[in-house]
Amino acid sequence: MVLLVTLNNCSPENESPIKEPPPPPAVTVPFPEAMYVQNGCAACHGMGGNGRGTRSHLLSNSRVPNFQDKTTYIYGSTKEAIAKSIKNGIPGTYMKAYGHMRKQEIEAVAEFIQKMQR
Ligand code: HEC
Repeated sequence: MVLLVTLNNCSPENESPIKEPPPPPAVTVPFPEAMYVQNGCAACHGMGGNGRGTRSHLLSNSRVPNFQDKTTYIYGSTKEAIAKSIKNGIPGTYMKAYGHMRKQEIEAVAEFIQKMQR
Protein backbone atom coordinates (compact mmCIF):
# COMPACT_ATOMS: atom_id res chain seq x y z
CA MET A 1 0.00 0.00 0.00
CA VAL A 2 2.72 2.43 0.96
CA LEU A 3 4.42 1.68 -2.33
CA LEU A 4 1.32 2.62 -4.35
CA VAL A 5 1.04 5.95 -2.61
CA THR A 6 4.66 6.67 -3.37
CA LEU A 7 4.14 5.87 -7.06
CA ASN A 8 1.11 8.14 -7.20
CA ASN A 9 3.20 10.94 -5.86
CA CYS A 10 5.47 10.61 -8.88
CA SER A 11 2.71 11.19 -11.40
CA PRO A 12 2.89 14.39 -13.50
CA GLU A 13 -0.15 15.84 -11.69
CA ASN A 14 1.90 16.04 -8.54
CA GLU A 15 4.83 17.84 -10.13
CA SER A 16 5.92 21.00 -8.45
CA PRO A 17 4.08 24.03 -9.87
CA ILE A 18 7.39 25.88 -9.95
CA LYS A 19 8.60 25.65 -13.54
CA GLU A 20 12.26 25.27 -14.26
CA PRO A 21 13.73 28.28 -16.03
CA PRO A 22 14.30 27.79 -19.76
CA PRO A 23 17.85 26.87 -20.78
CA PRO A 24 20.03 29.87 -21.60
CA PRO A 25 20.32 30.70 -25.30
CA ALA A 26 23.25 28.99 -27.00
CA VAL A 27 26.34 31.13 -27.41
CA THR A 28 26.72 31.68 -31.12
CA VAL A 29 30.06 32.37 -32.75
CA PRO A 30 29.73 33.58 -36.34
CA PHE A 31 29.85 30.28 -38.12
CA PRO A 32 32.26 31.04 -41.02
CA GLU A 33 34.69 32.74 -38.68
CA ALA A 34 34.70 29.67 -36.42
CA MET A 35 35.41 27.41 -39.40
CA TYR A 36 38.19 29.71 -40.58
CA VAL A 37 39.88 29.16 -37.21
CA GLN A 38 39.00 25.50 -36.65
CA ASN A 39 40.21 24.39 -40.07
CA GLY A 40 43.54 26.08 -39.51
CA CYS A 41 43.09 28.73 -42.22
CA ALA A 42 43.86 31.47 -39.72
CA ALA A 43 47.14 29.79 -38.73
CA CYS A 44 48.54 30.24 -42.24
CA HIS A 45 46.51 33.10 -43.64
CA GLY A 46 46.17 35.21 -40.50
CA MET A 47 42.96 36.06 -38.72
CA GLY A 48 42.50 39.14 -40.87
CA GLY A 49 43.67 37.32 -44.01
CA ASN A 50 46.88 39.32 -44.41
CA GLY A 51 48.99 36.17 -44.67
CA ARG A 52 50.57 36.59 -41.27
CA GLY A 53 49.26 33.78 -39.09
CA THR A 54 50.91 31.92 -36.23
CA ARG A 55 52.29 29.31 -38.67
CA SER A 56 53.22 31.57 -41.56
CA HIS A 57 56.90 31.63 -40.58
CA LEU A 58 56.97 28.00 -41.74
CA LEU A 59 55.80 29.17 -45.14
CA SER A 60 58.69 31.51 -45.84
CA ASN A 61 59.34 29.71 -49.12
CA SER A 62 55.71 29.94 -50.15
CA ARG A 63 53.66 32.64 -51.69
CA VAL A 64 50.95 33.37 -49.16
CA PRO A 65 48.20 35.58 -50.59
CA ASN A 66 46.91 38.64 -48.79
CA PHE A 67 43.14 38.15 -48.80
CA GLN A 68 42.68 41.87 -48.19
CA ASP A 69 44.39 42.73 -51.48
CA LYS A 70 42.66 41.37 -54.58
CA THR A 71 45.81 41.77 -56.68
CA THR A 72 47.61 39.09 -54.65
CA TYR A 73 45.17 36.29 -55.50
CA ILE A 74 46.49 34.02 -58.24
CA TYR A 75 43.42 31.82 -58.64
CA GLY A 76 40.79 34.54 -58.49
CA SER A 77 39.16 36.68 -55.84
CA THR A 78 35.50 36.05 -56.60
CA LYS A 79 33.50 33.97 -54.17
CA GLU A 80 33.35 31.13 -56.71
CA ALA A 81 37.10 31.18 -57.34
CA ILE A 82 37.88 31.25 -53.62
CA ALA A 83 35.51 28.34 -53.01
CA LYS A 84 37.27 26.38 -55.76
CA SER A 85 40.71 27.03 -54.21
CA ILE A 86 39.39 25.79 -50.86
CA LYS A 87 37.69 22.70 -52.26
CA ASN A 88 40.54 21.57 -54.53
CA GLY A 89 43.51 23.11 -52.76
CA ILE A 90 46.53 24.29 -54.72
CA PRO A 91 48.39 21.11 -55.72
CA GLY A 92 52.05 21.04 -54.76
CA THR A 93 51.70 23.77 -52.11
CA TYR A 94 50.84 23.99 -48.44
CA MET A 95 47.32 24.81 -49.49
CA LYS A 96 45.61 21.45 -49.13
CA ALA A 97 42.23 20.47 -50.54
CA TYR A 98 39.33 20.90 -48.13
CA GLY A 99 37.05 18.64 -50.16
CA HIS A 100 35.74 17.05 -46.96
CA MET A 101 33.99 20.30 -46.06
CA ARG A 102 30.36 20.62 -47.06
CA LYS A 103 29.46 22.85 -50.00
CA GLN A 104 27.63 25.36 -47.78
CA GLU A 105 30.57 25.44 -45.38
CA ILE A 106 33.05 26.14 -48.17
CA GLU A 107 30.78 28.85 -49.56
CA ALA A 108 30.40 30.46 -46.13
CA VAL A 109 34.16 30.56 -45.63
CA ALA A 110 34.67 31.88 -49.18
CA GLU A 111 32.22 34.68 -48.43
CA PHE A 112 34.04 35.40 -45.17
CA ILE A 113 37.33 35.73 -47.08
CA GLN A 114 35.68 37.93 -49.70
CA LYS A 115 34.54 40.30 -46.95
CA MET A 116 38.20 40.79 -45.98
CA GLN A 117 38.85 42.40 -49.36
CA ARG A 118 39.20 46.15 -49.36
C1 HEC B 1 49.44 25.11 -44.03
C2 HEC B 1 49.08 26.48 -44.40
C3 HEC B 1 47.72 26.75 -45.00
C4 HEC B 1 46.49 26.41 -44.50
C5 HEC B 1 46.18 25.63 -43.24
C6 HEC B 1 45.51 26.95 -45.41
N1 HEC B 1 46.12 27.59 -46.43
FE1 HEC B 1 45.22 28.54 -47.97
N2 HEC B 1 47.00 28.81 -48.87
C7 HEC B 1 48.24 28.55 -48.31
C8 HEC B 1 49.28 28.88 -49.25
C9 HEC B 1 50.80 28.75 -49.03
C10 HEC B 1 48.64 29.36 -50.43
C11 HEC B 1 49.29 29.80 -51.73
C12 HEC B 1 49.56 28.61 -52.59
C13 HEC B 1 50.33 28.98 -53.85
O1 HEC B 1 51.54 29.12 -53.77
O2 HEC B 1 49.69 29.17 -54.88
C14 HEC B 1 47.20 29.31 -50.14
C15 HEC B 1 46.20 29.68 -51.03
C16 HEC B 1 44.87 29.84 -50.70
C17 HEC B 1 43.88 30.41 -51.57
C18 HEC B 1 44.07 30.85 -53.01
C19 HEC B 1 44.49 32.30 -53.06
C20 HEC B 1 44.90 32.71 -54.47
O3 HEC B 1 46.09 32.98 -54.67
O4 HEC B 1 44.04 32.76 -55.35
C21 HEC B 1 42.71 30.43 -50.86
C22 HEC B 1 41.36 30.96 -51.32
C23 HEC B 1 42.99 29.85 -49.56
N3 HEC B 1 44.30 29.51 -49.50
C24 HEC B 1 42.05 29.69 -48.56
C25 HEC B 1 42.27 28.88 -47.42
C26 HEC B 1 41.21 28.48 -46.51
C27 HEC B 1 39.79 28.95 -46.55
C28 HEC B 1 41.80 27.66 -45.61
C29 HEC B 1 41.12 26.89 -44.48
C30 HEC B 1 39.97 26.10 -44.85
C31 HEC B 1 43.22 27.57 -45.94
N4 HEC B 1 43.45 28.32 -47.04
C32 HEC B 1 44.14 26.84 -45.23
C33 HEC B 1 48.46 28.03 -47.05
C34 HEC B 1 47.48 27.49 -46.23
